[in-house]
Amino acid sequence: MAILRASHLVKRFGPVTAVRDVSLTVGEGEIVGLLGPNGAGKSTTLHMLLGLITPDAGSVELFGMELARHRTEALSRLNFAASYVDLPGVLRVGEVLDAFARLYALRRPRERVAELVELFELGPFVKRRVMALSSGQRTRVQLAKALLNAPRLLVLDEPTANLDPDAGDRIRGLLTRVAAENGSAMLITSHNMREVERMCDRVHFLSGGVIVAAGSAAELAGHYGAEDLEEVFLKVARG
Ligand SMILES: Nc1ncnc2c1ncn2[C@@H]1O[C@H](COP(=O)(O)OP(=O)(O)OP(=O)(O)O)[C@@H](O)[C@H]1O
Ligand SMILES: [Mg+2]
Repeated sequence: MAILRASHLVKRFGPVTAVRDVSLTVGEGEIVGLLGPNGAGKSTTLHMLLGLITPDAGSVELFGMELARHRTEALSRLNFAASYVDLPGVLRVGEVLDAFARLYALRRPRERVAELVELFELGPFVKRRVMALSSGQRTRVQLAKALLNAPRLLVLDEPTANLDPDAGDRIRGLLTRVAAENGSAMLITSHNMREVERMCDRVHFLSGGVIVAAGSAAELAGHYGAEDLEEVFLKVARG
């Protein structure tokens, strides 16, 4: 069963059509990639799926519910992380996680925060203010926050863009493990094709606001006669 179903989404910003026609699905426990060149409409698509902006046309169904009509219930089962979403900088890491744990009305907020601090190796930073963290450290706080409510769907906009290769590799492993253990599905954007090959069960290619290709990395490579996803990307992006 699809836990996310987007149908024919359209979004215009004045004269710019950011998203022209996007339909996609994410199945239970599936890790799906949304790929495409800068300005293709990936973030705009995610923001519509999250109810942050309203589509000009099309519909979003989450967990079998129409987002427009069951907003609170649908959104309570997912979470989102992106490097461009700022956490309150003056708060300490522990305070931020506590605040979100309470906001999500978790049954055992302290225990859950402690679990995620351990999982993301945030122990040395809990007393530090968010603004005093490096961008990679901040990313780990973002991801810990995003997993607090054990979301059935985790939406991640370039989750590893700020991470060094070692941290990126560890976070990829961790996210994959969390997805497998908790059955959380993920929808991820990334410009790192090796990451996408490693993590994603399926990918959607977006170009000029339209989904131009979809399938597993292997299927797409086969279809485009390419060695790997990097080569598929270049072929798709260059038309
Ligand atoms: N609020 C806005 N107002 C006007 N134009 C916008 C707005 N948000 C996005 N756009 C435009 O919509 C298009 C798609 O942007 P979007 O951020 O979705 O791309 P993206 O695929 O996420 O790119 P990137 O890989 O660079 O993150 C771009 O042309 C962008 O300039
Ligand atoms: Mg983007």
